[in-house]
Amino acid sequence: MKLGSFLAGALVTALLSSGAYAANLSIVSGDTGNGREFLRSQLDRFEKETGNKVQIVAMPANSSDQFGQYRLWLAAGNTDIDVYRTDVIWAPQLAEQFLDLTDAFKDVIGQHFPSVIESQTVDGKLVAMPMYTDAPALYYRKDLLEKYKKPVPKTWDEMAATAKEIQDGERAAGNKGMFGYVFQGNAYEGLTCNALEWIKSSGGGQIIETDGTISINNPDAAAAVDRAKGWIDTISPRGALAYTEEESRGVWQTGNSVFMRNWPYAYALGNGPDSAIKGKFDVAPLPAGKEGASSAAALGGWNIAVSKYSKSPEEAIKLVKFLSAPEQQKERAIALSNLPTIKALYDDKEIIAAQPLISNWKPVFETAVPRPSAPTKVKYNEVSSMFWSAVHDTLSGNGTAAENLELLEAKLAELQGGSW
Ligand code: GLC
Repeated sequence: MKLGSFLAGALVTALLSSGAYAANLSIVSGDTGNGREFLRSQLDRFEKETGNKVQIVAMPANSSDQFGQYRLWLAAGNTDIDVYRTDVIWAPQLAEQFLDLTDAFKDVIGQHFPSVIESQTVDGKLVAMPMYTDAPALYYRKDLLEKYKKPVPKTWDEMAATAKEIQDGERAAGNKGMFGYVFQGNAYEGLTCNALEWIKSSGGGQIIETDGTISINNPDAAAAVDRAKGWIDTISPRGALAYTEEESRGVWQTGNSVFMRNWPYAYALGNGPDSAIKGKFDVAPLPAGKEGASSAAALGGWNIAVSKYSKSPEEAIKLVKFLSAPEQQKERAIALSNLPTIKALYDDKEIIAAQPLISNWKPVFETAVPRPSAPTKVKYNEVSSMFWSAVHDTLSGNGTAAENLELLEAKLAELQGGSW
């Protein structure tokens, strides 16, 4: 053996035994807005601190598209991806493919809201650690509500009436591209969130209740979906039937909508230097079905998990520790207005000053409605896709809500079989 390679071998052995092993890691991440560049900047710091290298495998922002791809990769035992950025609803479906993080995180779990940790715990296994939580807002144009002397709407009908009046007024004044309301109407997970909010806030339940009962086929739910159908081509563009978060934000942030339903990430971007509505908008809780009824926000959020096929599990766990830690969550809150999952950060003065939305949003996220991913376990994605299809059909004019929800109930019962 040549001296050079002997020395190199000895160095590797020494580094390995000292724990200073540098790995080439990869993380898959589908981000919205400037999330990817932001993640890169945090990873650069992680690389400097640990000597590891981390490559981002970029994915589309659409949660359903990511899920489809990840499920295939994981089923095939893909060793190329070490760390997955995961949606809050995926834990029960992907639990088997991720490492149990309980031991590695036992000292820091208590910093986070217990409900968030619970949502990522499946049969006692902690399958992912949170990066941020999510609960949507009604974004509204302060300047336009003032101009038309309208209050911030409290009910969906009030929202639609105000949206129509201002949209028509602005169009008559020359802004032909103005709309009243933009939301996420594409056939994907985002529509499940929107429709759950319309239904829950109208007394129509939450699709499948926490005890597993299928409750979706009821008149309040049908009326809520029919009401939303009435928005298409009156206050919302027909194109909204293909919108995800980013398309809605595009219309809103160029100044072409009075209202928007979106997650907190759109707050920092809306106040960014290139935004046409910087300083002209604010946020409120989503409207409710009736005056005095409670509004409902779907609970969202993103986490990070380590693949059980990773060849560098220890270094991958270090990366999860880094990205879920208070410093990184704080930086994320300030730069991207993402809601932290660490309780103490809601009292952080720098966060409060930079992104006032965040401290105001604590009660909204604490009372947010979970999608039925816990009761339906490994079948959640099918449940959700049947639900969003029934809603999308109704919004597109293929059948009434009552017809489509009755059909949906039968399909869900068949999918449930003996038990979820
Ligand atoms: C947001 C939420 C996520 C949800 C998705 C739907 O990213 O955080 O939980 O599934 O929107 O589009």
